Amino acid sequence: MSDLTPNVLIVDDEPAIRDMLRSALEREGYRCLCAAGGEEALSILSQEEIQLILLDVNMPGMTGIEVLQRVQDSSSDAAVIMVTANADRDTAIEAMKLGATDYIAKPFKLSEVLVSSHQALERRQLILENREFHENLQEKVRAQTVEIRQQKDTIDALFLDTIAALAVALEAKDRYTEGHSRRVTDYGVMLAKRVNQSEDFLRELERGGLLHDIGKIGTPDTVLSKEGKLTAEEFEEIKKHTVHGWAIVKRIRHMSDLVAECVRSHHERWDGSGYPDGLRESDIPFAGRIIALADAFDAMTSTRSYRNALTVQQALEQVDKFKGTQFDPALAEAFLELMNQDRGSGGNILVVDDDRSVTELIQASLLPQGHRVVVSNSGYQALRRVVEEPFDIIYLDLNMPGIDGAQTLHALRELRSDLFVVIITGLPDDPRVTTMMREGAVSCLPKPFGVRDIIAMTSKFLKEKKERAGAA
Ligand SMILES: [Fe+2]
Repeated sequence: MSDLTPNVLIVDDEPAIRDMLRSALEREGYRCLCAAGGEEALSILSQEEIQLILLDVNMPGMTGIEVLQRVQDSSSDAAVIMVTANADRDTAIEAMKLGATDYIAKPFKLSEVLVSSHQALERRQLILENREFHENLQEKVRAQTVEIRQQKDTIDALFLDTIAALAVALEAKDRYTEGHSRRVTDYGVMLAKRVNQSEDFLRELERGGLLHDIGKIGTPDTVLSKEGKLTAEEFEEIKKHTVHGWAIVKRIRHMSDLVAECVRSHHERWDGSGYPDGLRESDIPFAGRIIALADAFDAMTSTRSYRNALTVQQALEQVDKFKGTQFDPALAEAFLELMNQDRGSGGNILVVDDDRSVTELIQASLLPQGHRVVVSNSGYQALRRVVEEPFDIIYLDLNMPGIDGAQTLHALRELRSDLFVVIITGLPDDPRVTTMMREGAVSCLPKPFGVRDIIAMTSKFLKEKKERAGAA
């Protein structure tokens, strides 16, 4: 029954009064139900949707006040008009306190009952509308808060994507620095975590790391990609990238000072001999000191136009040697600890990918962790390696010239049964991924991935492999 025809429940132990109220109210278009006592009234209420109750106070058994209390405790939102036999004001006041809308004293005029019923229903309607309005309002505020948060996350993600794209665009100018900004960022963030920096700091440092060399956009290509040693003049030209980059970043709204500091200060040295400002020790912004260390470490372990890469061990020796002169000594110590922490428990890892940037990233990520990393550029090469020796984990690219990852995995399974193969692919939805998972691949790592992803996945599966061996 809808609210358009209100249901009225008449509760009175006197049949004559029930009948009189019923016929008067029905004439007005109400639908009436009657109860001779409290128990019956509550039973009707539990089954019917009632909008208004005319409730006698004095009844045998449960009194009207008791019924009113039970109605208020129930889920019913009916308006209640008390009908008292005498003009007992105290009872009436008590009833109003308990939530009754109105009261009528017997003997009553029918017109009085009709007016009071009409007003009670109107008041009830207002209360319900008001309640609904507030509930809607709360729901609206909640929904909008969620939406604003989502929008902010999207903007943050877009912002970071843009920054990453800028970094990649920059690296396209110089083939020796491919992936450099991403690796510097990953090393920097790992180091900052190691020295307990906040989530906010890590987020800004990520931006700073990606953008640290952005000023090189203004450096002439002839200088940037020169084979061999730079002249003094050319070196002066290179040095300008810190200040150029800082000026670029400063112009971007919402870019924090921390990001600008990474860009400007990542070539400062602890002893004051760096550039562009020759700052010393703690005068160098903290984020700049972190990126300086990460940048130098990646530069040492990468091949440049003028020299070959150092091994990770050699680079760590350099960090140790230059702590206190080039590097913040406390940060250098933390970095050495970080890079040495898992040594000795390293795994034997095979990376199968024709993309050099991927194999180099995995090498640069896992070698510092003490793992041995062997690289194969094709499926055939991988098969030969696997015949020669067992590997703990094989990172296997899906799309390669010659036999692809799926065919390689199929052939590998003929050779060895205890394989831990992780698929690496830019196409995680490719149906071949499903086939490979069915053939026993343990996971799929979508490209692009970072240093931290590869480190986390490697330790996860080494642990699993150890547990499996222990259980066997
Ligand atoms: Fe730089």
